Amino acid sequence: MSKDIVQIFDTTLRDGEQVPGCKLDKNQKLVIAQRLDELGVDIIEAGFPISSPGDFASVSEIAKIVKNAIVCGLTRAVKKDIEVAAEALKSARIPRIHTGIGTSDSHIKHKFNSNRDAIIERAVRAVSYAKSFVEDVEFYAEDAGRTDNEFLARICEAVVKAGATVLNIPDTTGYCLPEEYGAKMKYLKENVAGIHKAVLSCHCHNDLGLATANSISGVINGARQIECTINGLGERAGNTALEEVVMILRQHPTLGLDTNINSKLLYDTSQMVSQKMGMMVQPNKAIVGANAFAHSSGIHQDGVIKNRETYEIIDPLDVGVNESSIVLTARSGRAALAYRAKKVGYELTKVQLDTVYQEFLKYADRKKEVVDGDIHEIVETSKINIESVS
Ligand code: KIV
Ligand code: ZN
Repeated sequence: MSKDIVQIFDTTLRDGEQVPGCKLDKNQKLVIAQRLDELGVDIIEAGFPISSPGDFASVSEIAKIVKNAIVCGLTRAVKKDIEVAAEALKSARIPRIHTGIGTSDSHIKHKFNSNRDAIIERAVRAVSYAKSFVEDVEFYAEDAGRTDNEFLARICEAVVKAGATVLNIPDTTGYCLPEEYGAKMKYLKENVAGIHKAVLSCHCHNDLGLATANSISGVINGARQIECTINGLGERAGNTALEEVVMILRQHPTLGLDTNINSKLLYDTSQMVSQKMGMMVQPNKAIVGANAFAHSSGIHQDGVIKNRETYEIIDPLDVGVNESSIVLTARSGRAALAYRAKKVGYELTKVQLDTVYQEFLKYADRKKEVVDGDIHEIVETSKINIESVS
């Protein structure tokens, strides 16, 4: 079955970099941008050029070195922002300007002290102006998650008429439920005249832990771009995690959707971004966490040793992790101990294993985790007559 491609719009260097205390310097951003290009992301949001001279320089340099991806710069619906972004992007092979404005009643009242008609006018002016510099213009309706669908459709229709090629529907505050976010996409697909001229994009924040679920619901309902970051980094609780949406689409072929990402680079890219940003990846993080392919309870270990698929739905090699790991703790059984003992050179008979296992349990109760070096000590303490296989 041929699959529809969902474009991956990576915003690690813009929304991701908004994590407090995670400033990247220009060289670090260039290395990350190069890696994102190799990974196969379709669009790299390189920064917010008007925000600082440093961000302007980073976007300009990234625009020069990226070979495949579209390079995008963020702006507000402000003339000067758009001019500065166009200047920063001028060397990009394919430049995109990402402009927009808050559309929820709360943003219209409290941020802009304005009204709906005036907001539509500003949005159209911004898109038209951006269009005078570049062909590819993405419009964001900030706080679309809390914007009523009827008004959202009106503003989307107006900016598509002005030439917007992508409609970003951000759940800026991470408020929506997956069904609600999916229904929003469906409503826009069905109620915006000219919608076939633009791609709908999901941009979900993770305040309720629903960013990934909402993005998947969005593409099931017609969106064809997901905005995301490596390791789910971003403002507050973060953005949709790139590695999660990519692997969800790959593990569920019946959805008929896929991405252009080379998943074998996911683990390495996650480590690289984590080190450069100084943000540790939580061990239980899906796909790229240290424990994502580690098995520690006896029942699970026995199953995985017999057949990996009993407790794993992803082949670790597919995301660039060399192998699943069998972690030895006081909860481990004989199968796991025999497996790990064999790896460090001991082929234990059943009788020997019984003896060594008793010694192992005493040891494991004292330690959180039994490592390779400990296995030698345990075997020696067991005083069994043993032959090493190595
Ligand atoms: O979350 C958001 O609304 C954003 C926009 C600026 C695209 O990041
Ligand atoms: Zn955002």
